[in-house]
Amino acid sequence: MTSPNTIVAIDGPAGAGKSTVAKALAVALELEYLDTGAMYRAVTLAAMESGLALDGADIVGLAESCDLSVENGRTMLGGRDVSSEIRGVAVTAAVSTVAANSGVREVMRRRQRAWGDSRGGGVIEGRDIGTVVFPDALLKIYLTASARVRAERRVAEVGGDVDEMERAISERDHKDSTRADSPLSTSTDSVVVDTSGRTIDDVVRQIKNIVDSRRSSVRK
Ligand code: DC
Repeated sequence: MTSPNTIVAIDGPAGAGKSTVAKALAVALELEYLDTGAMYRAVTLAAMESGLALDGADIVGLAESCDLSVENGRTMLGGRDVSSEIRGVAVTAAVSTVAANSGVREVMRRRQRAWGDSRGGGVIEGRDIGTVVFPDALLKIYLTASARVRAERRVAEVGGDVDEMERAISERDHKDSTRADSPLSTSTDSVVVDTSGRTIDDVVRQIKNIVDSRRSSVRK
């Protein structure tokens, strides 16, 4: 059994900067990084390719049996690199339906815990990592930013209209935070970090400082 002390959970809404911060933090802490959103996206792609109903029961068996791995920032499905495909419009539009399926979530959680156990910890990014998957994590960060700032960042990356993007982001937030199974939320023991108007370096430094001080108080 892995010591839960080495898990750093980074949860929060889309566009808060979780991936960028989690990757940089993993390098700074010399830990591995896991993007759990990529796992839900890969199962969604596998279901679409198999022609399975996204809200049906068969998708749970597919989540269980599919040959899925997320290593060094690449997502592999059946030996194929699907890292770009899972970020496409079709998967992005469908993934929250798959992520709302309790059976799929149970399989994903099991896979995420196995990933952490086999590596002795890591920086793990998602929506329910501190609240459900690793409730004993050394540190739980809830990373957020205003919907406006998140929309501006997304438009800078992919283009489009900021007002429209803000509406789409708010809609997705609502869906992720009101679903019945493990909705996106803070927990009483999470540290809320708002990235609006802050640099990545500044945010990473702040979180690393908290990890360092927790690690040293665990050792005492
Ligand atoms: O972080 P992302 O946009 O790649 O996540 C894709 C979807 O998966 C999004 O709808 C939220 C969901 N998700 C989840 O429910 N639980 C996680 N641990 C990670 C992602």
